Amino acid sequence: METAILLAAYGSTDPEAGAGLDLFGEAVRERFPGLETGWTFTSSFVRRRLAQAGLPAPSPAQALERLRGRGFGRVAVQSLHVVAGRDYEEFAADLKEAAEGISLSLGRPLLDSPDDLERTARALLADPPPSRLPEEALVLMGHGTDHPAGAAYADLARLLARTDPNLILGCLEGRFGPGIAQISDLLRERGVRRAWLRPFLALAGVHARRDLSGPEDSSWGSVLERAGVECRTDLRGLCQSPGLVEIWLDHLEKAWSRSAE
Ligand code: CO
Repeated sequence: METAILLAAYGSTDPEAGAGLDLFGEAVRERFPGLETGWTFTSSFVRRRLAQAGLPAPSPAQALERLRGRGFGRVAVQSLHVVAGRDYEEFAADLKEAAEGISLSLGRPLLDSPDDLERTARALLADPPPSRLPEEALVLMGHGTDHPAGAAYADLARLLARTDPNLILGCLEGRFGPGIAQISDLLRERGVRRAWLRPFLALAGVHARRDLSGPEDSSWGSVLERAGVECRTDLRGLCQSPGLVEIWLDHLEKAWSRSAE
């Protein structure tokens, strides 16, 4: 029986974020040459907007339906989730519900094992913003969550800080990372005057453009600028960093070999 690959992302209406997905898709096709590969988007809002623009935007159920119709009995799925929080669980449940007649194998998110955390830290250190100086902070914005799986953010933050104290991973929401107020205090205490802002998100979508670097008073950039920290941005999503893409691909490969058993 043939296996198809289904890739999943929250989705984005931003063309640059879309370019990140294309890069990821290319890396998948290189690793799994000749296999059928398709995308699904988990956000119904994004799906509606893409459909209005005439772009393909299947829901998880529609994507499975299409693969079933084409005779695929096995599907290895890899999503661009960072942690196995509520979104990941809901996605897994949606797939399961729509998987009749298909043997599904779902890859794990980016930060799943201690080894993933170490590889992620190394990949981030190996791929810094283009001209960051050692005395400049690098502030990463994770999405964050209240789900226990979010503990991976705090674990990764500790790993990063051990290597470079000015490498700070915070979270936009939830209880597993410092928010921007705490980060701002920390930078002030240390006398750091310049910071790079980078999304710790698979895609540089609305959180990167609005909540991290947007002109609103509440954006992380605005908060830091008011605290006297000059900010620069590196708005690449995580799926634009090759070392991180490798981790997701390894998780997909595991899912794929399970599905072929
Ligand atoms: Co969000």
